[in-house]
Amino acid sequence: MAELVRDKHEIRRIKTYVNGLDENLQGGIPEGHITLISGAAGTMKSSLAFNILFHEAINGKNALYISLEQSAESLVTHMINLDYDFSKVDLVVIKDLSELQGRIQQMSRDKGSMFIIDVGAIRKEIRDITLDNNKSWLNVIKNVVKKITLEAGAKLIVLDSLSALYVLTRLENPRIELFMIFEFLRDLELTSFVISEMPLDGSKFSEYEIEDFLSDGIIVIKLTPFRRQVVREISVVKMRATACNNDIFSLEFKNGQFYALYGGQNPLL
Ligand SMILES: Nc1ncnc2c1ncn2[C@@H]1O[C@H](COP(=O)(O)OP(=O)(O)OP(=O)(O)O)[C@@H](O)[C@H]1O
Ligand SMILES: [Mg+2]
Repeated sequence: MAELVRDKHEIRRIKTYVNGLDENLQGGIPEGHITLISGAAGTMKSSLAFNILFHEAINGKNALYISLEQSAESLVTHMINLDYDFSKVDLVVIKDLSELQGRIQQMSRDKGSMFIIDVGAIRKEIRDITLDNNKSWLNVIKNVVKKITLEAGAKLIVLDSLSALYVLTRLENPRIELFMIFEFLRDLELTSFVISEMPLDGSKFSEYEIEDFLSDGIIVIKLTPFRRQVVREISVVKMRATACNNDIFSLEFKNGQFYALYGGQNPLL
């Protein structure tokens, strides 16, 4: 169990690596938090989450990206197009669970390892677990997370996305089952980023809305029409144990980095 903090300066934080946002979050997100990254399609949710793991891996930490829908190839191609230099980290792509043990043993000792678990590819490999037996998939994913956390020492995880998880493993009692999934991540003391697809009208941050209460933080990315352009905007709706600025910032990605600019409700006006 995590130790009780006695002084606020003892709270260790993970940067979002969004220039301009960390300064408004007392330096970052408290370690061990579960943060929802919520947004409509194409708002760069995956890129933002990947960016955090990638930078932490450059700093030598091991991390785990569970991709439930997007293939590992598609994700890596996207990140390479954003100019990420994969020679700086030990990238481990798992498309077949029988390879997991061997890949953990071959992990780099010099660089942080970034595991990408391609659940779509794994599903094609394992045909005996059918969608009818939907709880099995949740168990497969939990076992992989547990193994990589305990045996490979992963400190951070991205679950991309909750919506895809709901398709894969239908929840009969979302309140209880989601509580158990979140507790599972907390017990492993992982700093977690859970991607949540949000309707375009922004009416809610997550499917069942229970996720909002269970999570420690919510970061929202929106696409907002501005004159003849559409701008990306980012805001921290909630962040426990953090004095944060809840302004809406413009989110830009340039020269390989994210920037949160012009706080305030009408940033460009
Ligand atoms: N070089 C680039 N610079 C800035 N933005 C880019 C660049 N390449 C792609 N993008 C943007 O990244 C977006 C996709 O990013 P990402 O896959 O992280 O979004 P997402 O919110 O996870 O999407 P989805 O809902 O499909 O999962 C594209 O819609 C595109 O606008
Ligand atoms: Mg995505």
